[in-house]
Amino acid sequence: MSTAIDISDLHVTIGGSHILQGVSLQVASGEVVALLGRNGVGKTTTLRALMGLVPRTGAVRVRDQDVTRWPPHRIARLGVAYVPEDRDVFSALTVGENLRLAEQVAAPNYDGVYELFPELRQRTRQRAGTLSGGQQQMVAVARALLNEWPVLVVDEPSKGLAPRLVSELTDVLARVSATTTMLVVEQNLAVVRRLAQRVVVLDHGAVVHQGPVADLEDARLMRQLLGVSA
Ligand SMILES: Nc1ncnc2c1ncn2[C@@H]1O[C@H](COP(=O)(O)OP(=O)(O)OP(=O)(O)O)[C@@H](O)[C@H]1O
Ligand SMILES: [Mg+2]
Repeated sequence: MSTAIDISDLHVTIGGSHILQGVSLQVASGEVVALLGRNGVGKTTTLRALMGLVPRTGAVRVRDQDVTRWPPHRIARLGVAYVPEDRDVFSALTVGENLRLAEQVAAPNYDGVYELFPELRQRTRQRAGTLSGGQQQMVAVARALLNEWPVLVVDEPSKGLAPRLVSELTDVLARVSATTTMLVVEQNLAVVRRLAQRVVVLDHGAVVHQGPVADLEDARLMRQLLGVSA
């Protein structure tokens, strides 16, 4: 199996703090990997560094190309869709305008996106700023799916969502994962269990554990790594 994402010895220093201290992780083509860790350990920074959004050293390969020195838009065009932690939906624009701005291919798959999120079809003319947090997250994910890129990078999709929306969004991501390689940061372990085949755990800017998703059932290990009972 080829490697969709191959990060090795990634270092990021921001404002004098050495935030990532040699992160290495791989995601095989077709695989779903969950990136876990306590708050502030560097999960978001790892995704941002992968996407070229923060200065970093080390090596980043995406779909067998060395993208270490590439700017963000070029990495994205290689076929990597990114849903950032803060969603970055344009609140003054409508749902439809938000989607249109995300178009990167000649034939964006609106039918597919509206099939996954029927609610958005009725709201194309609604201003995104008037949507609930859950609906805004749907817009953010819909934008990422529009181009049918082969790789999806998602930062905490379930964060701040009501349980019903978490399960709705997880259903969508599970369907998408059948055809898409995914690297997903997620704190909700029920969501991780549904989506991921493998987990990578960060602590203090370094990978401290990697293994199959079944490792979540090792309560002692999870308490040690995440400080929670899984
Ligand atoms: N732009 C920045 N300037 C200064 N410090 C930053 C910046 N971005 C991140 N950090 C710091 O780097 C560390 C890692 O942050 P990061 O957002 O990657 O963690 P995280 O694992 O995603 O956390 P969370 O679970 O809260 O989302 C934190 O201590 C954070 O305060
Ligand atoms: Mg984060």
